[in-house]
Amino acid sequence: MATPLRALIVEDSDNDCRLLLSVLQRGGYDVTHKRVCNGAALGVGLEEGIWDIVISDYSMPGFLGTEALTIVRKKDLDVPFVFLSGTIGEEVAVNAMRAGAQDYVIKGKVARLLPVIQRELHEAELRRERKQMERRVRQLEKFEALGKLAGGVAHDFNNVIGAIMGWAELGLDRVASEAYEARLFRNIRDQARRAAGLTRQLLAYARRQVLEPKNINLNQMVNETTTLLQKTLGEQIEVKMLLAPDLQTTLADPSQIEQVLMNLCFNARDAMPKGGQLVIETRNVELHSQYCKLHGDARPGPYVQISVCDTGIGMDTATLERIFEPFFTTKEPGKGTGLGLATVSGIVNQHGGILDVHSEPGKGTAFRVYLRASEGDPEPLHYVDDAPVRGGTETILIAEDHEGMRDMAREILESLGYHLIPARDGEDAVNQFAAHRDAIALVLLDVIMPKLDGIDAYEQMSKGRPGLPVIFSSGYSEHGAKLAALATKGATILQKPYGSKDLARKVRELLDKAGVLEPIH
Ligand SMILES: Nc1ncnc2c1ncn2[C@@H]1O[C@H](COP(=O)(O)OP(=O)(O)OP(=O)(O)O)[C@@H](O)[C@H]1O
Ligand SMILES: [Mg+2]
Repeated sequence: MATPLRALIVEDSDNDCRLLLSVLQRGGYDVTHKRVCNGAALGVGLEEGIWDIVISDYSMPGFLGTEALTIVRKKDLDVPFVFLSGTIGEEVAVNAMRAGAQDYVIKGKVARLLPVIQRELHEAELRRERKQMERRVRQLEKFEALGKLAGGVAHDFNNVIGAIMGWAELGLDRVASEAYEARLFRNIRDQARRAAGLTRQLLAYARRQVLEPKNINLNQMVNETTTLLQKTLGEQIEVKMLLAPDLQTTLADPSQIEQVLMNLCFNARDAMPKGGQLVIETRNVELHSQYCKLHGDARPGPYVQISVCDTGIGMDTATLERIFEPFFTTKEPGKGTGLGLATVSGIVNQHGGILDVHSEPGKGTAFRVYLRASEGDPEPLHYVDDAPVRGGTETILIAEDHEGMRDMAREILESLGYHLIPARDGEDAVNQFAAHRDAIALVLLDVIMPKLDGIDAYEQMSKGRPGLPVIFSSGYSEHGAKLAALATKGATILQKPYGSKDLARKVRELLDKAGVLEPIH
């Protein structure tokens, strides 16, 4: 089969050009070409298309091959440039190579041309791969640095936001819902929620979120999310869904994947201000090692693919280069924070998946997310529970080093009738537990605490009481992997900052289940 070759030919003689094309065709290339013979036309040619190679005559009337080389190198450093000339002398040839040409071939010896082209195409491919690798390394380094920063800040920040949110909710519970004060409390709570949303996004970008993975069916998620989105997409956007009926399940955190989907759909919407088509597709795919290698260190095997395509404005390469950077946005101030895609890439990475994007200015954009397929039946996405929160009279040990959070959680639970024993760190928690062992029905442990962290503290407490009901609360965790392992074994994790209803519901749920709980190791 002929190899496709896009050749930009700088040549004044039409005859020589035809001769060259026939050599290339006989050599097994299916050539798409354009012939130019002056600087202006060369500039236009370079703009117009993507070329695999530039083959240039050395001296043409009014235009020198070296000038052509300068123009090409200014535009594209990578494309192989080969001189083909009848008049080139050794000295000229050496100068040409110095100026950045890959090789030169004497017109009388065209037999040499084919191996030269073959070699240059191969080397260009290697250069491209190396560049891509270097770009990935740079990106990973940037990721790592930003991740550390974001994670560190968010840990403390989450506690503060959590406390604000909790106090506002407690205030709300104490005033009549139509009172002026209720509006003030609601405003405080809503702003705190917004702040919480921002830290969540930053943490997702930094891959410091604690995942709560479940076997899920992405079709179900797409259906639910698009129903939610339909209103905000507007009537000018036609939504089309192509969902594979036999889609495999995937082990993922539903709320995180929902965030991925929402962010991609919002971007698609923003890219189509005058309307267009939004296509969401799911498929089963098998990824091979070569593809995986090009996209980080994902493992080959069965994946589920979800793609979000739009017919919007598209992106040029300069934009594409930067879209995953946090705070990179082309939207007007106030319209976008530039965290959407940074979050998407963080989440997909943390799930061990692959994110791919294709875009063309004026035509549209396609984002593809690949998540590993899993065995097992899909679980429900969320348990809807609108029933009022029930309290109880059990005794709960709460260990939390942040005083504001501790007081807030304590107040919430005490107002529901529970008896609370507070502890200020892991060690204190273990001591308190030893003193009140028989009374304590449940422990609520912050994961990161001074002296002894929540996980180790729980290990000590549960030695004498296997199956002791526990809720780990965590904003960001360096123990992410350990915690995720506990979560898959059934430990309850409460993501900080949490609202009073979340806390109360999880506590009741767990206490109701206690007794039938398997021990967690
Ligand atoms: N589907 C798309 N079509 C065209 N451009 C896109 C698309 N998706 C993203 N972009 C470009 O990438 C930029 C970054 O996207 P990202 O989602 O990270 O931030 P944002 O949408 O600008 O703000 P935010 O999502 O935080 O509200 C966008 O500003 C836009 O220029
Ligand atoms: Mg966005």
